[in-house]
Amino acid sequence: MSDESLLKVSGLSVSFPTGRGLLRAVRGISYELGPGETLGIVGESGSGKSVSSFALMGLLKPSAVIEGEGLFEGRDLLTMSRRDLETIRGRDIAMIFQDPLSSLDPCFTISRHLVEALQAHRTIPRAEAEKEAEEMLRAAGIRNASQVMRQYPFELSGGMRQRVMIAIALLSKPRLLIADEPTTALDVTVQDQILRLLKKLRDLNGTSMIFITHNFGIVARLCDRVMVMYGGRIVERASVRQIFEEPVHPYTRALLAAIPRMDDDKSVPLPAISGQPYDPHSEDAGCPFRERCPRAFERCGEMPPETAVGDGHSAACWLAGKEAPREQ
Ligand SMILES: Nc1ncnc2c1ncn2[C@@H]1O[C@H](COP(=O)(O)OP(=O)(O)OP(=O)(O)O)[C@@H](O)[C@H]1O
Ligand SMILES: [Mg+2]
Repeated sequence: MSDESLLKVSGLSVSFPTGRGLLRAVRGISYELGPGETLGIVGESGSGKSVSSFALMGLLKPSAVIEGEGLFEGRDLLTMSRRDLETIRGRDIAMIFQDPLSSLDPCFTISRHLVEALQAHRTIPRAEAEKEAEEMLRAAGIRNASQVMRQYPFELSGGMRQRVMIAIALLSKPRLLIADEPTTALDVTVQDQILRLLKKLRDLNGTSMIFITHNFGIVARLCDRVMVMYGGRIVERASVRQIFEEPVHPYTRALLAAIPRMDDDKSVPLPAISGQPYDPHSEDAGCPFRERCPRAFERCGEMPPETAVGDGHSAACWLAGKEAPREQ
């Protein structure tokens, strides 16, 4: 895949200086994403899912210490000029977040948001931009689009606001859409509608997607591959089928074992597993999961490398590939 990857991240680390020393949010992650592919990122709160994407998009405060490489179509997002990055952002890469209100300006109508987004990257007359904007709102499933164009963000429901965000994100037909828990704040029915919409638009435009979520049901529905993060590291990566059928890392197994009736209930959030969450300030050189791991042994004091256990499937565990697959 490496010849045709759209995004190739290598050795990405992100730290924040804090009063307690360096908070090491992302600890050397590498991955690739091909054109048209959807990659899910799962992991408990604080595992570095959002920070790893924000770093690539240049959305972290300047005090963040970022290392590594993030090649988008061969160009490094982490070293390019602010101006080049801003051109790519919004045109080639778009992002949607959990809380659309925080990305929408309360003083601007929906029309203005969409028109400005269009005009930021294209020279297009206002009337034409408005027409295109309204069409995009309709494509995002907003029926009374002409009315919504004149409304302000606070006048819309959460689901409608997320549809507006999706419309804005897709206006420029981005090659990559990063969705960071876009449905977490919505009730299950609206969540379902938004996921259908994203899937439809993605398939229509061939957009690649990174989908950050707490929800394995969403991964099953939407993603081709998945990365499981723990303590700022990728502890397992696999196809969606592999992750559900043959999870290898004890953390992934613990997560999946704690989800009841995976196949029936697509809305289950990531379950809590016992033990203390990983301390992001930790300088410990061992496996981040070992304090909570039922299978930890002496060697886990040293960080295990990622070990291939199948085609495109690997886990950062000393026991990976050393035992028979889990009985079903
Ligand atoms: N601006 C910041 N300054 C300092 N620490 C930060 C900052 N942003 C994030 N962190 C820390 O970095 C770590 C990773 O955060 P991140 O937001 O990536 O987690 P996450 O996996 O997205 O979690 P969640 O599922 O809760 O969204 C956390 O310990 C968080 O507190
Ligand atoms: Mg997050």
